Parts: sequence; C-alpha cells; structure tokens
Amino acid sequence: MIAANRPAASALARVTEAGAVAAARAMGHGDGKHADSLAVDAMRTALDQVGLAGRIVIGEGERDEAPMLFIGETVGPETGTPFDIAVDPLEGTNLVAGGLPNAVATMAIAERGGLLNAPDTYMDKLIVGPPAAGRVSLDYPVRENLQIIADVLRRGIADLTVVVLDRPRHETLIEEIRTAGARIKLISDGDLTAAVSVAVAGTADHAVMGIGGAPEGVLAAAALRCLGGEIQARFKPRDEADRQRLAGMGVADAEERIFRTEDLASGNQLAVAITGVTDGDLLRGVRFFGGGARTHSLVMDLPSSVIRFVDSIQILDRANLGPVRLGPT
Ligand code: FBP
Repeated sequence: MIAANRPAASALARVTEAGAVAAARAMGHGDGKHADSLAVDAMRTALDQVGLAGRIVIGEGERDEAPMLFIGETVGPETGTPFDIAVDPLEGTNLVAGGLPNAVATMAIAERGGLLNAPDTYMDKLIVGPPAAGRVSLDYPVRENLQIIADVLRRGIADLTVVVLDRPRHETLIEEIRTAGARIKLISDGDLTAAVSVAVAGTADHAVMGIGGAPEGVLAAAALRCLGGEIQARFKPRDEADRQRLAGMGVADAEERIFRTEDLASGNQLAVAITGVTDGDLLRGVRFFGGGARTHSLVMDLPSSVIRFVDSIQILDRANLGPVRLGPT
C-alpha cells in the first residue's frame, strides 16, 4: 500500500516523468493538442504501473470532452489507498508546440477531500512566496500588495518582478503594476510554473497576479503548501455553464469568497511532482540521447517536509542504449 510520503512522492515523479518524456517528443511540432494527448496517454499508463489508486478531482476536463484522466475517473488498483488526484499532464501545450520554455508535466495527490474538486474554469489569483504569505490580500489594491511584498523582502517596489499572463483581460492590472513601479514578466502561458517559481528563492519572480486556469490554481496550491508560499483565488466562471459546474461540484460562493491555499489544497498527506518538458527557470527540459532520456523534476510532500530536485535517466530502449552521461547535462 502506498502512503503519501516518500514512496508516494517518488511514484508521482515516475508518472510525471513519463508524461514529460512523451510530450517532449512533440516539442516544436506546432501541435499542442497532440503533445497533450501523448502526455495523457503516458501518464495514464504510468499511473497503472505505479499502482496509485484514486479518483481524478482535477483533470483533463469532463468525461464527454476528455477520453482519459477526466474529472471523476477512477484510476489504479481497487485495493490501494484511495487518493484524490490532480493532474495537468501538460501545463503549457502551446509552449511545447512552439518549443518555448517552462512547459511541465505535473500531478498532485492527497487523502480523500484534500484537493478541491473544481471544473476547468478560471480564477483570479494572487500568489506570493513564503515571506509574504499571510500578509497580502486579493482584496487589497495592487500597489498595497506590492508594498507589502517589497517590505518583507526588504527592497523597493521597483526591485520586484510580477509574473502576469499576457492577455487582453489584464490590461488594467498591467497598468496598475506599472504605475506602482514594479517590473513585469509577461508570459504567454504557464502560470502554474510561475506560481512555483515565486516560492523558490533565486528565481527572481516575486508574485503572480491575474486570471488563469482554476486547475492550475489547485495544483499550485498543493505545491505552495509544500513550499510555504500562498495562493489566494476567486473563481471567474466564463458563463452560466461554468457556474453550474461549480455548483454541481459543491463549490459554494465561488465568485464571492477568497479561496486560500488551504481551501484549494486542504490535505495533510499532500505530495506533488513536477517534471520539466521544455527548459525553464526552475527545471531543465527533457534531454534525449540514444535509447534514453534525462529528466529533471521537483518532488515534494507535506508529511516529510523534504523538497527534492530529482535528476533521472529514463532507459527507453535498452537494446540501443547509448552512453549514460555523468554529471549535469
Ligand atoms: P494549457 O497548457 O492547458 O493550455 O494551459 C496553459 C495556460 O497558460 C495556464 O498556465 C493558464 O492558467 C491558462 O492556460 C490560461 O488560460 P487562457 O490561455 O485561456 O488565458
């Protein structure tokens, strides 16, 4: 039986590594959907192999739009510990399609009820690292939050970098950040990777602000519980159908209340794995060599409080295996 400690965390890494290797084959091929389906297939197979059992609470969408890893799907052996499972087999489908940085494969697990069961809609998010956690608020003006982050990091607002998805809906937000004087890193995709980056010192990203995917928000919350950062979020359904989905999944007051890190990922048995698909600020992308591939992952779990950067060799074709390289790639 797998408990949500080190064995579970390394089982998770095997699943995200499989997804990353599969998706990385499609890097630069211009077809994000294909890259995503490669990652989904590989992760679904790996989930069975590692014997993780449970139900998907954050996945590829609802059953009618996703053949595998759909929300509500039950995976793994019937006898295993029944986890709640959140997957984003390919975060940054367009990034892989264009060979751009920061695409990852990711997955989180928790005991039953430990991850919010949410549909694929939007959320307004504010994400900060450990020093500013518990001090900022989604209800404060942008400048006030930036001043709080600057103060705890003992610097000026001008020394902060805020990551924002480059979308027309963020025109006002971008103007407010600029007026306050902070630097902005506009990203084309991938606010989950950015969320993890702000909680890791040395990445030079200090906050994520703006509206992005709700599934990415729940996965970010699981990672931030392990890393000590904070996410605050308010659901932004696109339409009435989204509202009904939220209500159907039991998410009350979705548009009014602020969901905090512990609301999105309340579990005490959390484990998270993130594997780089393309090179990024936090993780290296998949590197292929004859008969194998090298992967780089961030693997963490709450019970052990250990955060691992895992550098792995995946032997894909033993008969044609080239020399495994020693040392960093
Ligand atoms: P996918 O890889 O699933 O396409 O998501 C990429 C992403 O950029 C997320 O990081 C982000 O939360 C979301 O899409 C934003 O949605 P949209 O592109 O609709 O603004």
